Amino acid sequence: MKLSVIYDSKTGNTKRAAEWIVEGMNEIEGTVARAFSVEDFDPDFIKESSGVVIGCPSYAALMTPNMRSWLFSEAGKLGMAGKLGGAFATEQYSHGGGELIIQSILTNEMVFGMLCYSGGGSCGAPVIHLGPVGINDNVEKYNGMDNYRDNFRVYGRRFASKAKELFG
Ligand SMILES: Cc1cc2nc3c(=O)[nH]c(=O)nc-3n(C[C@H](O)[C@H](O)[C@H](O)COP(=O)(O)O)c2cc1C
Repeated sequence: MKLSVIYDSKTGNTKRAAEWIVEGMNEIEGTVARAFSVEDFDPDFIKESSGVVIGCPSYAALMTPNMRSWLFSEAGKLGMAGKLGGAFATEQYSHGGGELIIQSILTNEMVFGMLCYSGGGSCGAPVIHLGPVGINDNVEKYNGMDNYRDNFRVYGRRFASKAKELFG
């Protein structure tokens, strides 16, 4: 079973988060997961994927123009309908809009006809309501991307387990 994680990233935080999700996914037997930037992706691998997770930084509490444009111009060509979908975000501030970005990505995924999954409260701790959010190292001394590594990995594992259950 193939899974894809697609991200936009200028300064590397969202790319790191994508790679951590892939790490978690690949811990589930039978999974081959890969991460792709919106600027350099393998359409065939994505088309063959049973699930796709999409992630983006918060820019003024919105998804980036790059991601918006990718969702409009590219994602529709990749056979997204019926795939398991998930979303994640990174931000600078604890209340910097990450969950709004996740919500709008999930909305786009539903429009494509994807089946959206976060695990929610059903998987216990760490409880991930809509999707994982990582906060960068720049401002808040109690934050930093490394603190979120386990959340992204666990999310990747949960997503891959659900995809395996649904699609084998
Ligand atoms: C133009 C711009 C707008 C941003 N707006 C926000 C914001 O509204 N809230 C926030 O928490 N962080 C904001 N950030 C910070 C980024 O979301 C954060 O650094 C993110 O992790 C960057 O991801 P990347 O390293 O993958 O590019 C902004 C950054 C840029 C460049």
